[in-house]
Amino acid sequence: MARMTLDKLLQSQGFGTRRHCQQLIAGGHVLVAGQAVDDPGMAVDPSGLEFSVFGEPWTYREHVYLALNKPPGYECSRRPSHHPGVLSLLPEPMRWREVQPVGRLDHDTTGLLLLSDDGAFIHAQSSPRRKVPKHYVADTHDPVTPELVSALLAGVQLHDEPAALAASQCEQIGPHRIAISLEQGKYHQVKRMLAAAGNHCEALQRVAIGGLRLQALGLPEGGWCYLGEQELALLNGT
Ligand code: URA
Repeated sequence: MARMTLDKLLQSQGFGTRRHCQQLIAGGHVLVAGQAVDDPGMAVDPSGLEFSVFGEPWTYREHVYLALNKPPGYECSRRPSHHPGVLSLLPEPMRWREVQPVGRLDHDTTGLLLLSDDGAFIHAQSSPRRKVPKHYVADTHDPVTPELVSALLAGVQLHDEPAALAASQCEQIGPHRIAISLEQGKYHQVKRMLAAAGNHCEALQRVAIGGLRLQALGLPEGGWCYLGEQELALLNGT
């Protein structure tokens, strides 16, 4: 990878303006591969570079791909209005890097949310042509019946949708609980489908996207992690 100056590298990783990064380095707050440095103009090879800022370790990443176990009560919108935003759950450099959620979960929906600063990745993942299933567990107000499951699999008509929308998979997993998978990502889709089928969604969790399962990531609620190549590849599975 082309070498770059340390101040530019820090800036690319979300540590503030170039000027601020220069001050961090000159102030002795940055270590590179465990060594103290104080020259902001020092040329470094960014690939895999390990550094620390105020003692916190970081590895250079051209882009970041993150999974968050979203708690209830957080908004995915860029300018949250009624609840704190999901970005407030990430370290500050992620916000400087302009990490954004890939798609949205409702403020009261919990579970697997992807975030990235790679625009091409966000675009590709959010494309309506992408038929990768998103898997949810929904708790219902009224008891689940075989008729409810059949209706969700057969397709239900939602207001403002030209055609009926069907779950790609749906099964009862508790007296008031279903596992439901969707290949589309329409606004409030699970909740609206349950309402159209005559029930009501009381709680909703996204448990997987493609073959990437929240449980396998071992994240506590509100916790996040980087996704590596193997995990990203799972996004294309089922
Ligand atoms: N369907 C919904 O109704 N809400 C979500 O947050 C995700 C899918």
